[in-house]
Amino acid sequence: MPRKGGPIQKRPIANVDKVIVVASGKGGVGKSTVALNLAFALALRKNERMNTPLRVGLLDLDIFGPSIPTLMGLRNAGEPALSSGGAILPMTNHGLPCMSMGFLLPSTNSASLEENDNTDTPIVWRGLMVQKAVQQLLFDVDWSKDGNGLDVLVVDMPPGTGDVPLTLGQLVTVDGSVIVSTPQDVALSDVRKGIAMLRKVSVPITGLILNQAYYLCPGCGTGIPRYLFGKPDNFNNVAQKLDVPVLGELPLVEGVSSGADAGYPYVLSSIDAVKSSDGEGGLTWRSNMAQVAEKVAASLWKTS
Ligand SMILES: Nc1ncnc2c1ncn2[C@@H]1O[C@H](COP(=O)(O)OP(=O)(O)O)[C@@H](O)[C@H]1O
Ligand SMILES: [Mg+2]
Repeated sequence: MPRKGGPIQKRPIANVDKVIVVASGKGGVGKSTVALNLAFALALRKNERMNTPLRVGLLDLDIFGPSIPTLMGLRNAGEPALSSGGAILPMTNHGLPCMSMGFLLPSTNSASLEENDNTDTPIVWRGLMVQKAVQQLLFDVDWSKDGNGLDVLVVDMPPGTGDVPLTLGQLVTVDGSVIVSTPQDVALSDVRKGIAMLRKVSVPITGLILNQAYYLCPGCGTGIPRYLFGKPDNFNNVAQKLDVPVLGELPLVEGVSSGADAGYPYVLSSIDAVKSSDGEGGLTWRSNMAQVAEKVAASLWKTS
């Protein structure tokens, strides 16, 4: 039976050329960390046609547990301004514009000593309200930047296969997706579900990232990876069976986590700082993330 008002029409996001989502079937696997660093790793690349740095934005669609304000160092940045046309203006730090439900919610945590800290506000929306919030974040944000708009918008998704990915897939054309997993079996079964869901809403799957794949102990001098959560064989088998490319493996690195808490993306830290605090693991993480960004850019603009 046709829907009242006809089928939903997909529309482009104004001032955005490509949309890439970072998703997973499960929380806590490193989606937001990957989305943040992928955005900055892409911003360090060039738009091959124009030979200018890629213009990148970051949209946090994890409306139930927004973490981008913290990861961007914008936790206490206050509310976003509105444009003269009434659109929400993105918040910018480290030169990269972003938007998150975390910027739009009033703080309900009266015990909080920090003003405008919205990260503790619990969200219990369902159904229509989720759709409304997603719609607003997709269509009411002004990404025009300095008038040129964005080459790519990186979208950080909530975990799982609920209303948000469904709404996104119905409303906009998504150009690619990166699915983050950890080596544990339970996370892998969630990957299968995530892939099935993205395929159902016609989101192309760019590839998988195995996060927290191994640990390279800094200063131990051995250089031997420790597979704390199991070897990647199972993950690689699943990827092969599902016919999805593996974009890269990211090791477990202390600085990635502490950098995130401090609002400083790991891909922006200096090579010397990475070397001295995290050693080979940090350097591997950085170069693997850069390779992921290269593969994502190549698939978005079919440059190879
Ligand atoms: N490769 C990594 N090395 C170290 N810590 C990581 C790594 N990936 C993620 N983390 C940490 O794991 C926690 C969960 O990551 P997060 O990106 O918030 O996951 P999700 O968005 O999937 O819920 C965070 O504390 C983050 O800093
Ligand atoms: Mg997250």
